[in-house]
Amino acid sequence: MANPKEILANKIKASKLGGGEARIEKQHQKGKLTARERIHFLMDPGTFEELDALVTHRTKDFGMADQIIPGDGVITGYGKIDDRLVFVFAQDFTVFGGSLSETHAEKICKVMDMAMRVKAPIIGLNDSGGARIQEGVRSLGGYADIFYRNVMASGVIPQISAIMGPCAGGAVYSPAMTDFTIMVQDTSYMFVTGPNVVKTVTNEEVSSEELGGASTHSTKSGVTHLTAANDIICLQKVKQLLSFLPQNNEETAPFTPVELDEEFRLELDDIVPENANQPYDIRDVISGICDSESFMEIHPDYADNIVVGFARLAGKSIGIIANQPMSLAGVLDVESSKKGARFVRTCDCFNIPMLVLVDVPGFLPGTDQEWNGIITNGAKLLYAFSEATVPRISVITRKAYGGAYDVMNSKHIGADMNYAWPSAEIAVMGAKGASEIIFRKEIKAADDPAAKLQEKEAEYATKFANPYSAAERGFVDEVILPHETRRKLIKAFAMLETKEADIPFKKHGNIPL
Ligand code: HXC
Repeated sequence: MANPKEILANKIKASKLGGGEARIEKQHQKGKLTARERIHFLMDPGTFEELDALVTHRTKDFGMADQIIPGDGVITGYGKIDDRLVFVFAQDFTVFGGSLSETHAEKICKVMDMAMRVKAPIIGLNDSGGARIQEGVRSLGGYADIFYRNVMASGVIPQISAIMGPCAGGAVYSPAMTDFTIMVQDTSYMFVTGPNVVKTVTNEEVSSEELGGASTHSTKSGVTHLTAANDIICLQKVKQLLSFLPQNNEETAPFTPVELDEEFRLELDDIVPENANQPYDIRDVISGICDSESFMEIHPDYADNIVVGFARLAGKSIGIIANQPMSLAGVLDVESSKKGARFVRTCDCFNIPMLVLVDVPGFLPGTDQEWNGIITNGAKLLYAFSEATVPRISVITRKAYGGAYDVMNSKHIGADMNYAWPSAEIAVMGAKGASEIIFRKEIKAADDPAAKLQEKEAEYATKFANPYSAAERGFVDEVILPHETRRKLIKAFAMLETKEADIPFKKHGNIPL
């Protein structure tokens, strides 16, 4: 009879070898790391503890009884990243294409349950051909078990999905319900139905890359928050994201020590151009305000008329939501409203204070916008800001026009502090449009209508193209010089640290989805 130690050693060896050397080689040829290598690069050295390495599938059909590989195509366990506890699962494409069997799903559910019990983040490294075809409904049930846990964990512990290979069929819905998705360029794709089914049903010819590759989902659909050039960069981005997040919704994000001085940033004084119609890059304002090199943009290639991301201010994690005058003059539209709303809710559920930079000419007009639901989608952003209870501060750098003034974290919807730069213009609309409406008769009757329009425009601009009407009413707490902004924000966020939310009891609100 074989020695028990030998049996164990053989099983562990088999589990470590996964689908075998040939398949590992194939994985490398595609430019992909194996599941084990990915875990190695993700976790702090020597901290990973594997669970269920000896679990095997229970299928006897289709010759599966002869194909038993310990671990069953997914490596699960816990360990540390930057000395903080995390749980992880990494699908092993070398074993049955990383496909999800009943037992594969049970392993994932086990680490998700543990992550919830001890309130630590869960990271999924996805690389799978989807439901294990030989198992039928048992694997579908396994997916649903994971989906349910994704929802239960949502807003409790951070959930991050790295897509590092195929992710097809219903499998995409687990990543979609996590907080962040990162796709590796050229080697990963996500779609509900692949190119073959698309061809059969709609007669469209489309490649996997075009249908659901990283660039499609980062620019067109917004399904992925980030992309990475390769596996290593993807794993680095997972770590970077975690550095801005708390372990769970009862904690705050980690503090990164930073030396503070006077904190005047003179470069901020020269960013907003004198001409109100000239664009500038709001990212320059962000880097001028935040701790140096701390900004991590989320969704950088999608709806670029709004910029969102994490940064640090005096060592503390903040979420930034900023109109981008460089793109569509920073107007709010369907996509930017959805992008902003999602990020606001992510920050709020993980206790990350928000800084909102406002330079918005209003909502984008037109049939395209109305027919695509700018009303419902704009309402998402309005709703998300209104329900957020974390400290919220706005800085109006230039335009805050119309409904967009209300929506972009105005005091009226619960912002704690609202600053404006002297260049701020807070009005129902721009001076030209406003004058054309309210002085229409006067302009029409004038000997020189163009000159009259100019005169009225100037009159309106003097009254409203500034922050002072709003400041007189207290809608703006203080008009500040740009170079003072960082200093003011550090103090204001520190003051707001003990903020307590006062919201009425409800099961949950009914955000206009
Ligand atoms: C069982 C699978 C599998 C699966 C791949 N394999 N997908 N085994 N169930 N779903 C196996 C292959 O048979 C092969 O085994 C090995 O994994 C590697 O696959 P290849 O096809 O050689 O790899 P590649 O050429 O890179 O193609 C990868 C792939 C393709 C594009 C993912 O394998 C594929 O199309 N698979 C099926 C995808 C699919 O339709 N899944 C079901 C989706 S529906 P050998 O032994 O030959 O090496 C779904 C429902 C979920 O997921 C619903 C939840 C609500």
